Amino acid sequence: MAEGSVLVVSDDSALSYHAKKDLTRQNFNVIVEANEALAMNMAKTNNFDVIILSIKGDNLEHSRLLLDIKSSKLDSMLIVASDSYSVSSISDMQRFGIFGFLPSSLDQRNLFLIVKQAVFVKKVRNIVKIHEEKILSLEKQIVLLNKKVEDGAKNTVSLYRNLQESYIGSVKALAQALDARDGYTHSHSQNVAKYAVVIAEEMGLSVSEIKDIRDACELHDIGKIGIRDAILSKEGPLTDSEWRQMREHPLKGAQILKSLDLKNVLELVKQHHEHYDGSGYPEGKKNGEILLGARIVSLADAYDAMCSARAYKNKYFSKAEAVEEIKRSSGKQFDPRVVEAFLRVIDRIQ
Ligand SMILES: [Fe+2]
Ligand SMILES: [Fe+2]
Repeated sequence: MAEGSVLVVSDDSALSYHAKKDLTRQNFNVIVEANEALAMNMAKTNNFDVIILSIKGDNLEHSRLLLDIKSSKLDSMLIVASDSYSVSSISDMQRFGIFGFLPSSLDQRNLFLIVKQAVFVKKVRNIVKIHEEKILSLEKQIVLLNKKVEDGAKNTVSLYRNLQESYIGSVKALAQALDARDGYTHSHSQNVAKYAVVIAEEMGLSVSEIKDIRDACELHDIGKIGIRDAILSKEGPLTDSEWRQMREHPLKGAQILKSLDLKNVLELVKQHHEHYDGSGYPEGKKNGEILLGARIVSLADAYDAMCSARAYKNKYFSKAEAVEEIKRSSGKQFDPRVVEAFLRVIDRIQ
């Protein structure tokens, strides 16, 4: 196998002759060409390891072929042979991509050495280039892979969200059906949500807090699902055992919502029958122990219950009477701050 391929471009017959003879003896494939245009064509089509270019004078800019080789960005290692070029500065070498200079009178041993070094450097450059390309392609693959993982994760997240939202939608529909069973109008939960959102906005709660409150209102009585119709729609007062069952619905609701990723909503549902003075259920929490959202849901829930056709605590209320009842219960069943906000927005609610 040849040591490498060399193109000698020179009209100096002595240089061409010696280069061809000496390098061929050292197992290089050597082509000699005096015509620069033909040489350039050969250089472009043959990817020589080394091009030895003979230049007259000391102005590199005057060599058309040197400029062509530079602009063609060939891989070949360039060696400039010149007897008159004496200032072989590094900046000239870098500017033209010249590997080395050699005097035309260079002896055969030095010619062989500089050509062998050029071939070696070219091989090293190729190896580095291949590795760089491999690294670059690897980096691209990693970027693509990361993007795929990211897209996959996004898809999974959005699939999960869709699934969750459709599940929440089904549970809300169930809650609405339960409203009718409970003796309220079918829109009790929706009304509670409407009132609670207006009060929450008035109190300056954040968008996400208000969203949780809306969800909690729409789901607040879902725990009544296990309570018999006879108890839910009973006209007269409930027995102790019936009350016990009724009072379990906030906890049952929280249990139902456990399968959804709605932690805040679950807590609001659980606390929607707690009273500000601690007289509520299921845990008898009071004041700040009860989430502000739950204090708002509680008032909105009671107001709609009072205004519904169904008896609230065995009494029937007009809207004005319901407002008065809420005022009376401020600081007892209801948080005074929530009552104040409610009174400020009552015109918008009715
Ligand atoms: Fe309730
Ligand atoms: Fe309710």
